[in-house]
Amino acid sequence: VKDKELIRGSWESLGKNKVPHGVIMFSRLFELDPALLSLFHYSTNCDSKQDCLSSPEFLDHVTKVMLVLDAAVNHLDDLHSLEDFLLNLGRKHQAVGVSTQSFTVVGESLLYMLQCSLGQAYTAPLRQAWLNMYSIVVGVMSRGWAK
Ligand code: HEM
Repeated sequence: VKDKELIRGSWESLGKNKVPHGVIMFSRLFELDPALLSLFHYSTNCDSKQDCLSSPEFLDHVTKVMLVLDAAVNHLDDLHSLEDFLLNLGRKHQAVGVSTQSFTVVGESLLYMLQCSLGQAYTAPLRQAWLNMYSIVVGVMSRGWAK
């Protein structure tokens, strides 16, 4: 129960517009694994990582990712209600060439973003709470991926 409060409170404190936080997250992701940049087919139009990070299609994906996280935060009491959606989402990522291992790196990037954005409020219990929620989300996506 404490986990849920930590997650909801911190997510809310990021503010209404989550896209800039998502950009921090994906900048970190591409730092940890630059090869992932090429999975965004439109990245071929990008001369640099910076170009890509500001391309509309890329920001569109960032927005989608943040909406999925938002849905998870809003369904902490019944995450299983997102099961079909997440299974399908995992399948779609299999189709576009994203490995399930990369989902783990996204998790690290999520924690990095939270650390940057929350400052002092980023504590060990908060980190663990987010890790637990993200593991559930990615666990279902990975099951869908493998189907
Ligand atoms: C779609 C890449 C992680 C949510 C896509 C697409 C690509 C992609 C290439 C299709 C084109 C597009 O919609 O932009 C990646 C890569 C990831 C990643 C490289 C990192 C390893 C995630 C994560 C989430 C997510 C962690 C959510 C938690 C979505 C959604 C769509 C999407 C909602 C749209 C699916 C649809 O069309 O129904 N992703 N993705 N992605 N991704 Fe990701």
